[in-house]
Amino acid sequence: MTAPVRTAVIPAGGLGTRFLPATRAMPKEMLPVVDKPLVQYAVEEARAAGIERIVLVTARGKTAIVDHFDEAPELQAALEAAGKTAAAASVRAGAAPPGSLVAVRQQRPLGLGHAVWCAREAVGDAPFAVLLPDDLILGPRPCLAAMAEAHARVGGAVLAVMPVPHERVGRYGVVDPGPRDGDLVAVAGLVEKPRPEDAPSNLAVVGRYILPPSIFAPLGERRRGAGGEIQLTDAIAGLIGAEPVHGAPLAGERFDCGDKL
Ligand code: G1P
Repeated sequence: MTAPVRTAVIPAGGLGTRFLPATRAMPKEMLPVVDKPLVQYAVEEARAAGIERIVLVTARGKTAIVDHFDEAPELQAALEAAGKTAAAASVRAGAAPPGSLVAVRQQRPLGLGHAVWCAREAVGDAPFAVLLPDDLILGPRPCLAAMAEAHARVGGAVLAVMPVPHERVGRYGVVDPGPRDGDLVAVAGLVEKPRPEDAPSNLAVVGRYILPPSIFAPLGERRRGAGGEIQLTDAIAGLIGAEPVHGAPLAGERFDCGDKL
């Protein structure tokens, strides 16, 4: 039986250059969508999928993210004293249970694969989820919960995938699809940010992954891929053959918050 997924890694070490000047002093993961910072949506989606431990991968200038999930007793007391019970309850609910959230540093922005590798000691020897907070996914059922169910059945790596217009494949990791298994599709190959003419399909990986701990060995080799970065996609491609790797159709609607549009 496949071990349940109890740990989620949330990479939040990027520079946020696409949102300057808003992100000069504020981490892009703290930009609000309606009334919540992006990173809180990712944490809530993880918890709804049964995740107990969150590993935030942060960087210099990003401590506001960790503070956001701390308790805020003064603020809570002030809100309660003022009779603002709903606001007080939301502050209380936003705090991570003691010991359930750790932050590790990504000292240099060497890519998504490197960010995930920085979490290896905190994750340990168990399957784990990765949620990219830039990809806000909303729907009746949390996307990661559906993936965790699939993972319990097939094990290995499960990646959320969705079809994208052919001319946009160069912004994504793109799947070479193998045989179907119900809702899932076997991943026969994976390419990071291909040119449209080289793309194996228009099936793109979106920012939700369930990965086996064996991913840390290839990530530790620090091979550079697309854009000169250490790519998570390349390490997952290296698992094919040794572990089952499946794409799961994205459950919900995705909003790309890594882009102004
Ligand atoms: C990252 C991944 C890419 C994936 C995308 C989804 O790219 O490297 O494989 O398709 O997230 O949002 P980024 O958007 O960080 O360039």
